[in-house]
Amino acid sequence: MTSSDSSHSTTAHRHWDEIWKTTGGRADWSTVDPWVADTIDLLRKRKVRDVLDLACGIGRHAVFLARSGFVCWAIDASDTAIDQSRAAAEEAGVDLDLRIGPMNRLPYPDDHFDYVLAYNAIYHGDRNAVRSHVREIHRVLRPGGLYQLTMLSRRNHHHGRGIEVGPGAFVQPEATDDKVHPHFYCDAAEMIAIHEPAALVRAHDEEHVAPGSFHWHCLFELPKGGGGLK
Ligand SMILES: C[S@@+](CC[C@H](N)C(=O)[O-])C[C@H]1O[C@@H](n2cnc3c(N)ncnc32)[C@H](O)[C@@H]1O
Repeated sequence: MTSSDSSHSTTAHRHWDEIWKTTGGRADWSTVDPWVADTIDLLRKRKVRDVLDLACGIGRHAVFLARSGFVCWAIDASDTAIDQSRAAAEEAGVDLDLRIGPMNRLPYPDDHFDYVLAYNAIYHGDRNAVRSHVREIHRVLRPGGLYQLTMLSRRNHHHGRGIEVGPGAFVQPEATDDKVHPHFYCDAAEMIAIHEPAALVRAHDEEHVAPGSFHWHCLFELPKGGGGLK
């Protein structure tokens, strides 16, 4: 089914704000993903210093990055996520610059970070919203900067379910999770196209905990001469 309403964008943080209020909701998001941990050696080799955890949730990766010696900023649109991240940073004894805000209007100057992480983040919204999230990543990254993120794969079992609110974007009105908000799904060609002119360094399509929950895991690099997505 296709809807003519093109106003759908990023509203999923409302769902996540409720999840982050519960102990059970936080439990699944408290440990560092090994794929993120495995990137640390590359970041050190590249002499990365300033890093951003975009849509950081309760701060599992931001705290890990700060503990690993990087200067870490983190942002999320959920107030509760940022409260929880602050508590996690205090407990770990690390400094984080924490902000509440949306992915499509980041409160950072141009060319500010060497690396951006966006784990299960930028696909919240329709294709236009996703492009606006990528545009902001490109803006705040330095030329030659790296970014690592997940995107929803078209192999994901939720692709095609519910109402298509834009090309590749679906809302499931009956869902009991964040799928009541728009989510964007892409194949490899589209995933690469959305991030141009960044170069794809590597990607794989990985099933997360739930059977059929395929996500692209990708690492991109901005051109050294600058000129990210405008
Ligand atoms: C699936 S959780 C992932 C959290 C974190 N990246 C992690 O891996 O633990 C998605 C997060 O994206 C945030 N989010 C969703 N839409 C957002 C938006 N438009 N701007 C900023 N944050 C958003 C939610 O509040 C939530 O914390």
